[in-house]
Amino acid sequence: MAATTESQARRLMARLDALAAFSDDPLKLTRLCLSQAHRRAAEQFIAWARESGLSARVDPVGNVRARYEGRRPGAPALMIGSHIDTVRDAGRYDGALGALAALSLVDGLAAQERRLDVAIEIVAFGDEEGVRFPHTLTGSRGLVGVNEPETLAQKDADGVSMRDALKAFGGDPDHLGAARAEGVAAFVELHIEQGPVLEAEGRPLGVVTAINGATRLSAVVTGSAGHAGASPMNLRRDALAAAAEMMLAIEARALSEDELVATVGRLDVEPGAVNVIPGRARFSIDVRAPLDEPRRRAVADIAAAMQAVARRLGVALELTPTHEAKGYVCHPKIVAGLEAAVVAVGADPRLLPSGAGHDTMIMGQRWPAGMLFVRCKGGISHNPAESISEDDCAIALAALTRFVEDFRPS
Ligand code: GLV
Ligand code: MN
Ligand code: MN
Repeated sequence: MAATTESQARRLMARLDALAAFSDDPLKLTRLCLSQAHRRAAEQFIAWARESGLSARVDPVGNVRARYEGRRPGAPALMIGSHIDTVRDAGRYDGALGALAALSLVDGLAAQERRLDVAIEIVAFGDEEGVRFPHTLTGSRGLVGVNEPETLAQKDADGVSMRDALKAFGGDPDHLGAARAEGVAAFVELHIEQGPVLEAEGRPLGVVTAINGATRLSAVVTGSAGHAGASPMNLRRDALAAAAEMMLAIEARALSEDELVATVGRLDVEPGAVNVIPGRARFSIDVRAPLDEPRRRAVADIAAAMQAVARRLGVALELTPTHEAKGYVCHPKIVAGLEAAVVAVGADPRLLPSGAGHDTMIMGQRWPAGMLFVRCKGGISHNPAESISEDDCAIALAALTRFVEDFRPS
């Protein structure tokens, strides 16, 4: 590995540590979309971009954008980046690695005073996780130009609308259309694998072939709150007991089919007291599969099974879809380019699908897009134990740089 790539990787790892300090929770890394910590992280990102001589800004939908001109001003751009929002109690590499790697890559080019046939557009998306607002990937949807007007009306758990959060963040909710990107030739995203395959096979890098589609729903089960001691079991309408049966039905359906996954990740119970029968249970459902049709069938089956539980137990069920992202087959030109770049830096490219969602699946609706994965320790992600090595970071940067150098807009 060239000494410059090693020193770039060292600096990138230090920046990843520094970015992890921007958290809404002093005890853990939680940087939800459009929060104060997200805003401070975006400001830091802009400051680093400016250090590299780039002009950088927050766009109307809350992405940080920066541009490194090519040989000819106004040349088509290769867009590179990932997201800087996180889940609650997150690791420091999911998203941040790809966003900051784009800056490192440009630093490397600038240090050698190199300009390419393409410009490099850096993007740090702000809404990849979908933890704060139900409808997600609004940053990449903004670049593609496919955000729905009702996106801005959606509210977080505290009743704050996305419109107000975006305004406070420095975006421009009245002109979301102005975020639409033009002159983009392709998009590429570097990301940690978030799974165990690369580590198990002893490979540092993987090239993503396809990204699973996802459906998310919110469920509200309403029964009747009552006294925990005075109500006989057969005369109750316990919302939580019904929700528990529904969750088992969701799990059973997901287990019935290879590559289908379903998760209930959030559950709120009201009124939430030791001696009160739960009157209401709200929970989230996330269903994913590589192909769209089996996922849609599974969602329909899950909805039917939940309604059957509701009828049998005498509770009401309200199911609302909150997010839908079609699966994406990565563009063959980008896959081939990344494979060649991985070989060029002396690694063996492993082609693999992504079970996790990424902004790439939205960017791919408009431009050729693809992803490079880096091995992560134990395959662990969405967890503070997330970890990558500096050596893997260096080889990933080298491969990404090679891809960029060899990229030709068609
Ligand atoms: C994002 O990390 C997702 O796949 O949920
Ligand atoms: Mn991610
Ligand atoms: Mn994530």
